[in-house]
Amino acid sequence: MRESIRDAEHLFRLVLLFAAGLLLFLLVRALLVPVGFGELGHFRSGAIDDNRGRPLRYAGRAACAECHDDAASELAAGRHARIGCESCHGPLAAHAADPDAAAAMLPEATPLCVRCHEANLARPAGHPQVEPREHADGSACADCHRPHLPAV
Ligand code: HEC
Ligand code: HEC
Ligand code: HEC
Ligand code: HEC
Repeated sequence: MRESIRDAEHLFRLVLLFAAGLLLFLLVRALLVPVGFGELGHFRSGAIDDNRGRPLRYAGRAACAECHDDAASELAAGRHARIGCESCHGPLAAHAADPDAAAAMLPEATPLCVRCHEANLARPAGHPQVEPREHADGSACADCHRPHLPAV
């Protein structure tokens, strides 16, 4: 009996080493994995509340239309109808909540137009594109196009 235990001694040392490794792994894991991880899936469940707690920056076009129905109906009449107001005007939740406290700046048209309409092979062929230098010859895009209703 004694003999056989001595023969297996190196195996006990190996098991002990594995057990120590496992313990270290569990300890480090307990320190590094944040509270709530895994409750709802492979992420920290508290992240939902963290994100929900952030202030909203975009109001959405329905809010804009309540006060700016002229702009909204002009936009709806042309091919920019599906573009959100804040895609061009930037985030304006503060302005929509209280227009007196937070004024809205008018965007400069030309850089905005060029961002979506400069000719680029990567764009779908059906998307209206121009070579700004040839097409506008240095004029501002808004000299000829109305941003909300762009057809000339
Ligand atoms: C509660 C009403 C209200 C809401 C909602 C609102 N606005 Fe306004 N907005 C105003 C008022 C009032 C002014 C200042 C008077 C004016 O020029 O019409 C203004 C001014 C502006 C101006 C500047 C106009 C100019 O000639 O200088 C822009 C651009 C604008 N709003 C865009 C938006 C957009 C985009 C939204 C949606 C995110 C929005 N507004 C939501 C009331 C509102
Ligand atoms: C394609 C980009 C674009 C979109 C989409 C857009 N706007 Fe504008 N908007 C502009 C630009 C550029 C101006 C400034 C025009 C100028 O300088 O004369 C402007 C001007 C305005 C003004 C000032 C008064 C006027 O009519 O010129 C208001 C108010 C306004 N926008 C509200 C809105 C609202 C509300 C929406 C959504 C329903 C919207 N805009 C969608 C680009 C856009
Ligand atoms: C966020 C991207 C975006 C911006 C910014 C934008 N456009 Fe457009 N524009 C579009 C899309 C998308 C279409 C085509 C929609 C469709 O397929 O019906 C379009 C269509 C057009 C058309 C074709 C109109 C027609 O009836 O044939 C013109 C002209 C135009 N835009 C000019 C402008 C000008 C000028 C500006 C700057 C004030 C501008 N666009 C800003 C996305 C944009
Ligand atoms: C001098 C007036 C003028 C200026 C400035 C101008 N455009 Fe145009 N644009 C036109 C006319 C006219 C058309 C319609 C006929 C055509 O397709 O050439 C047009 C058509 C377009 C179209 C539709 C092209 C298509 O294939 O359907 C786009 C997009 C456009 N312009 C964007 C712009 C942009 C972006 C700017 C500013 C860099 C700009 N335009 C400046 C007069 C102008």
